[in-house]
Amino acid sequence: MSKSLIFKDRNKLSPYYIPKRLPHREQQINMLLSIYGRMLENIWETYPRFIEVIGPAGTGKTCTTIRFGELISEKARREGINLQHVYMNCKVDGTTRYVLYSNLVRKVTPKISTKSLSPEEMLKQLIDYLKFEEIFLLVTFDEIDYFVQISPREHIVYDITRIPEMQPGAPIPVIGGIFIARSIKWHDYLESGERSTLGRGIIEFPRYTSKQIRDILADRVEEAFQPNTVLDETLDLISDLTASPPVNGDVRVGLELLYYSGILAENMGSSKVTPEHIRKVYSGINPTITAEDILSLDKDSRLILLALVRGLRASRAAYISLRDLRKFYNVVCEEYHVKPVEDFEERVQDLIYRGIVDMKSLLEVGVSGAALVDLERFLNNLLKQLEQIE
Ligand SMILES: Nc1ncnc2c1ncn2[C@@H]1O[C@H](COP(=O)(O)OP(=O)(O)O)[C@@H](O)[C@H]1O
Ligand SMILES: [Mg+2]
Repeated sequence: MSKSLIFKDRNKLSPYYIPKRLPHREQQINMLLSIYGRMLENIWETYPRFIEVIGPAGTGKTCTTIRFGELISEKARREGINLQHVYMNCKVDGTTRYVLYSNLVRKVTPKISTKSLSPEEMLKQLIDYLKFEEIFLLVTFDEIDYFVQISPREHIVYDITRIPEMQPGAPIPVIGGIFIARSIKWHDYLESGERSTLGRGIIEFPRYTSKQIRDILADRVEEAFQPNTVLDETLDLISDLTASPPVNGDVRVGLELLYYSGILAENMGSSKVTPEHIRKVYSGINPTITAEDILSLDKDSRLILLALVRGLRASRAAYISLRDLRKFYNVVCEEYHVKPVEDFEERVQDLIYRGIVDMKSLLEVGVSGAALVDLERFLNNLLKQLEQIE
């Protein structure tokens, strides 16, 4: 491949890349460091602390917590303490305690086999292992609001906050848990006992302003683009679009705008990324569904979404009925040579919880946020992404 005139390293725009510097989140990182850093001084006699990280989509909750996890483990290492931060994403790592804890155990060590263990036994074995190896654990549960909606009977908060009671006596090898949610509303799904053991430690992640988004994106432009390819006014426009409704500050959308505008500029043979490129791309993306959302779906759910998009295009409407969706889905399954899933309705419900699908009634199923943008362009784009289902 010849050298791109536009990009230096387009991976730096991926939603999974975490830059070293996280502008405008220093305060949140310092807060976490002061809470858990202090515990390192007295690690053998410490009690776990539970913290919530709360803020809307794209405010840096995930990347800040992961970066903090690296910083604290590094700090511990320098002090001769073996501290592991394990990051669990409930959307990816499981919506039952059984699956979630086996993934947790697997991330800590391959030495414990969770086969035929109950969730409680898994935690117990994990604690025994950590004590024996003198490892301290800090665990983050991201997208916990999604978990409690899908599985209101799986009381992980109860389990995790009760760890000190499982085997009384120091040391307690779990020094804390961080629960990440979009809003405090996730408490509605907890039992009152869980709410009280959780405590009051909340770190807020406010929406970024246009100016803050500009600082964040400017760093990325430097890493991802050739020098002087992204004009100042281009960056201004992206930051403004990202900060205002309907995007409301979700940096993920800003990064996608940068990425697709760069691709467009490249395909048009332009040597600069201009505001015109941004406008073209912006009219074709859906500010409420990002590439990351789609990547987090399994194949069957992507096929259901593909069927929905096909159905909406065929009927040239913002909504189709659940029955029609099922018909389109059966056709898609034939095309991809897969058996239709039995839990079709649960999967549609899951897509609704994820904020991807919008259902007003059994007769009105649509794609979230689709009414806000040029539906035709948006569906075309989504279709292109979905049709890459392997
Ligand atoms: N302060 C920041 N500095 C640099 N990049 C950021 C910052 N905040 C968010 N991002 C980027 O924006 C994207 C979304 O952030 P993320 O942490 O996933 O948000 P949230 O978990 O709150 O939805 C990520 O790709 C991340 O790298
Ligand atoms: Mg996140």
